[in-house]
Amino acid sequence: MAREETFTPWYFQPEIAKVYESFYEGKYKEADIQEKNLLKFLLDQIDGVGEILEVGCGTGHFTRWLNSLGYKVVGADISPVMLGVAKELWKDGKFVNARAEFLPFKDKSLHVDRFVAYLVYMPVLVRVFREARRVARRGIVMGLMNRWSLPTIRRIIQVKLGKNPYYFNARFYSLPMIKKKIKQAFVDGEFEFLDWSCAVFPKIFGIKKLVKIPFLGSFLGVGVKFK
Ligand SMILES: C[S@@+](CC[C@H](N)C(=O)[O-])C[C@H]1O[C@@H](n2cnc3c(N)ncnc32)[C@H](O)[C@@H]1O
Repeated sequence: MAREETFTPWYFQPEIAKVYESFYEGKYKEADIQEKNLLKFLLDQIDGVGEILEVGCGTGHFTRWLNSLGYKVVGADISPVMLGVAKELWKDGKFVNARAEFLPFKDKSLHVDRFVAYLVYMPVLVRVFREARRVARRGIVMGLMNRWSLPTIRRIIQVKLGKNPYYFNARFYSLPMIKKKIKQAFVDGEFEFLDWSCAVFPKIFGIKKLVKIPFLGSFLGVGVKFK
């Protein structure tokens, strides 16, 4: 039987959802800080953001963080098990079970839309971006695994060898690839690119800040502002 027919993505598996947040306390603790810095750097480039829809919010790790910064937030995710954990961790949080391609919100009902690290599981990006454009008034900010980084290259090789099931259904994007998708999704002249950056460089370089080098940094932040 083909792999697609038997494969259950990790984010639908309750035992993985339960431990997902522990990664941020363990080996990804430093990466988490740098990723948040990068997302804040992008968000600060869009004026008038009060509300944020976080698409692919998972267990709500970044949703809670955005709330702590003073934004009004809603988390949306395809997985009921990830959302179950999100609701346990933040009882008053607002979360909806939804797919990025079909968001249950009215046109222009939110100030900004944001994705963190979930684009890897999204094959039809142009559709996703257009849907984000439909509901978001000011812009979109996204953080994703950079295709041009050593951890991502390792993951791509592992998948090719039939290992690392976490990424069997993943697609990895570089800066030019993501910019191309954005240009396909939006009408020229109706948006402008934000100042992008990368974070989480290999430890041997000792870089803990944001750097505008489109390779090696494993977390890539890109965004657009709507006109
Ligand atoms: C790597 S996790 C990221 C979770 C969270 N943003 C974080 O960084 O901790 C990817 C998330 O994307 C969600 N996801 C995958 N495909 C999706 C889709 N089509 N629409 C909405 N969410 C999706 C998964 O359920 C999962 O929770």
